[in-house]
Amino acid sequence: LPDAEIILVSNREPYIHNLKNGKVELIVPASGLVSALEPVMRACAGTWIAHGGGTADRMVVDRHDRIEVPPDGPRYTLSRVWLSEEEQKGYYLGFANDGLWPLCHIVFTRPIFRESDWEAYRAVNQKFADRIVAEARTPDPVVLVQDYHFALLPRMVRDKLPDATIVTFWHIPWPNPEVFSICPWREQILDGLLGSSVVGFHIQFHCNNFTDSVDRFLESRIEREHSSISYGGQTTLVHPYPISIEWPPAALATQPTVQECRDRMLSRHGLDPQTRLLVGVERLDYTKGILDRFLAFQQLFERYPEWVGRLVFVQIAAPSRGTLPAYRDLHAECRTFVDDFNRRFGDKDYQPILLLDEHHNQADIYTAYRAADACVVSSLHDGMNLVAKEFVASRDDEQGVLILSTFAGASRELLDALIVNPFDPSAMAEAMQRAITMPEDEQRERMHRLREVVSTNNVYRWAGALLQDAARLRKRNRAVE
Ligand code: G6P
Repeated sequence: LPDAEIILVSNREPYIHNLKNGKVELIVPASGLVSALEPVMRACAGTWIAHGGGTADRMVVDRHDRIEVPPDGPRYTLSRVWLSEEEQKGYYLGFANDGLWPLCHIVFTRPIFRESDWEAYRAVNQKFADRIVAEARTPDPVVLVQDYHFALLPRMVRDKLPDATIVTFWHIPWPNPEVFSICPWREQILDGLLGSSVVGFHIQFHCNNFTDSVDRFLESRIEREHSSISYGGQTTLVHPYPISIEWPPAALATQPTVQECRDRMLSRHGLDPQTRLLVGVERLDYTKGILDRFLAFQQLFERYPEWVGRLVFVQIAAPSRGTLPAYRDLHAECRTFVDDFNRRFGDKDYQPILLLDEHHNQADIYTAYRAADACVVSSLHDGMNLVAKEFVASRDDEQGVLILSTFAGASRELLDALIVNPFDPSAMAEAMQRAITMPEDEQRERMHRLREVVSTNNVYRWAGALLQDAARLRKRNRAVE
């Protein structure tokens, strides 16, 4: 797409400026979406439009609300959109995270649909669509729309920029039509998304669920052999694009050896140098199965008491969406579980679960991956899950075992992980036992193959596939004109 203008829109911004003790602090948020797209935007320049959510975000932008990023070596433009408390409450916390997030993940957390949230969601989608139109310098830009915050925006942009190539990527699962049907505004959401030239999901299964939902609720023509939907005079391609990470990841460049990472982790937490480590890294979210893996860890200790005193579970849990009750409750539940667990199995020198519930930078996260005997990803449902891929990328020593939920999109690619059902703590405990007793040769064989998969299917390939389809459709549109 050499001659196309690229505009990306997401809710979460790739760089957040916060005010801390009178100083401006820069944070890269914990978000699979951001970690995947940031390297892509660095490579192709363009404009990234996102909500300016940091407490110092307004202090660092120019008079058009723009800032060049990354701050220490600018490669593209970040255009910040300001949202009032009211807008954030209705659009982000309300409709997106109390409604669509549980709706799409189906993890037995009831979605809540409020009319006022829906109104805010629509208004904020319009606000971002207006910003795209204002930023566009050409009549036919390529607009990359990210995630469930913007289901209505593709149609809104299409109305104003009919020649735009709109590529929408849905980073979370799409449920089957029965589940989707409980959303009171299901038709509007589908109509909004079908303003796109391409709608992408991580895996074919979610594409099928989406197509089945359109089939059920809209008057459209579906051509399954071409993976396309014709609706309202326009054709939308529905296609899987498994997202990934950059290879090699930038965060790896500054990491010390694996042995040093281990030493560092163990001494930081005052642990015996022989201690074995299980590691988990996520946002504190009820879709991630954090309590479920702790239950499995408990069964491991009950069945193999020889590990008590010799094994620690380090759980990095970035605080997330903390004003929503479902998230606050989960945080409290995890804390209580861990305190009880540590009282039962630990003592003043040995805390078998370390719940690190604060923001960590990429360097610390990579140190944790590299220090681990095994990384546990037990999502109850996940679009892709990039932690699994980051762990693999971090292990250039070809050691370490990945335990991976069958309900994460990543399990379709990472076949050499130990694949588990997170709803079955007993089987997950056995997988943990297998991981920490696995011979080095087997670890090496598995990790070697995993690394081949992730290095080949990297994020540039993901972006390449998406943009190639965009370029093809753009060319066809131009020819028709
Ligand atoms: C998931 C979503 C992203 C989101 C991220 C972090 O990965 O797909 O869109 O940015 O969670 O959540 P937050 O609400 O903090 O942006």
